[in-house]
Amino acid sequence: MSDTIQPNGEGVLITGCSSGIGRATAIHLAQRGFTVFAGVRKQVDAAALRNLGEPNLVPVCPLDLVDLENIPAVVDTVNEELARRGRVGLRALIQNAGGGSIAPIELMSLAGFSAEVEARLVGSVALVQACLPLLRKVDGGRVVWITTPAIIPTPYVASIHACDFAVNCIARTLDIELKPWNVASVMVRCGGIRTPSADRSMDELAKSLQEWPRERAALYEQALQEWRDSMAGFDARRTPPEKVAEVVCRALVARSPKRRYSVGYMAGAAAFLEALPQPLADAILRMRF
Ligand SMILES: NC(=O)c1ccc[n+]([C@@H]2O[C@H](COP(=O)([O-])OP(=O)(O)OC[C@H]3O[C@@H](n4cnc5c(N)ncnc54)[C@H](OP(=O)(O)O)[C@@H]3O)[C@@H](O)[C@H]2O)c1
Repeated sequence: MSDTIQPNGEGVLITGCSSGIGRATAIHLAQRGFTVFAGVRKQVDAAALRNLGEPNLVPVCPLDLVDLENIPAVVDTVNEELARRGRVGLRALIQNAGGGSIAPIELMSLAGFSAEVEARLVGSVALVQACLPLLRKVDGGRVVWITTPAIIPTPYVASIHACDFAVNCIARTLDIELKPWNVASVMVRCGGIRTPSADRSMDELAKSLQEWPRERAALYEQALQEWRDSMAGFDARRTPPEKVAEVVCRALVARSPKRRYSVGYMAGAAAFLEALPQPLADAILRMRF
């Protein structure tokens, strides 16, 4: 038996396909022969995907993970389109959607943090629950989580990384719980990837610095400036999102997928830090920042 599976029109549902990693992955998997259900929140993004004229790419809209009422309609759309194409079940659910902002915890927007937790944790679990009957219909279904490489404390991005810590727990637990049905839960751990999110979050930070209470913002101004300067070199070396798409594809076609894939600038260094005892990792990060 071959080590790989032929895509052969099998269904894949991806969240957050308007840009970046989600968009690149949706296009790549469709071109490789999967039927890709590309979740987006806005009709304009669905139209942009439709305009690509890729027959295997099926935009699904709205798929907003902070609005759980969307989910039954999404599953109905997937079921109907798969039936129309003579296919049953989903090979994979790819949990990619995410946002988050840059801020010290003291100044973090609680509304923004709450939306991130709702989307990446509550919404993602709701989608897993809704899709599991479809994933069980395929021998070797899988849930793929796009996440950061390491569960290490990184200043100013706690709204994103706190979710990654929790996603790490959910993904690994799910893999054990779903073993009886041969549904794997796989993390694709991305280092620096070149997507619109980096510039957008820097712009938002500049805006936040104007809006935060003056005396509190002043406490962090110099540290944030130094951090921003250090990120310029990092940003220049980010990996194109198409590389993530290739890795996701490998995780989908492997008959026995690994549970962790790593891709992108500095992903290896972060994973190395993660492998250290926590007090040592904390000490290194305290020296770095
Ligand atoms: N870029 C990196 O270096 C990097 C590294 C490690 C991990 N990641 C992770 O990779 C994922 C994709 O990020 P990206 O860099 O490709 O950023 P991106 O280009 O900004 O894409 C984020 C996608 O998520 C969608 N989204 C945000 N909140 C959502 C919600 N509540 N419900 C549904 N969709 C939502 C966005 O939709 P809208 O356009 O409608 O906002 C967009 O399609 C994120 O989870 C991120 O944490 C990125």
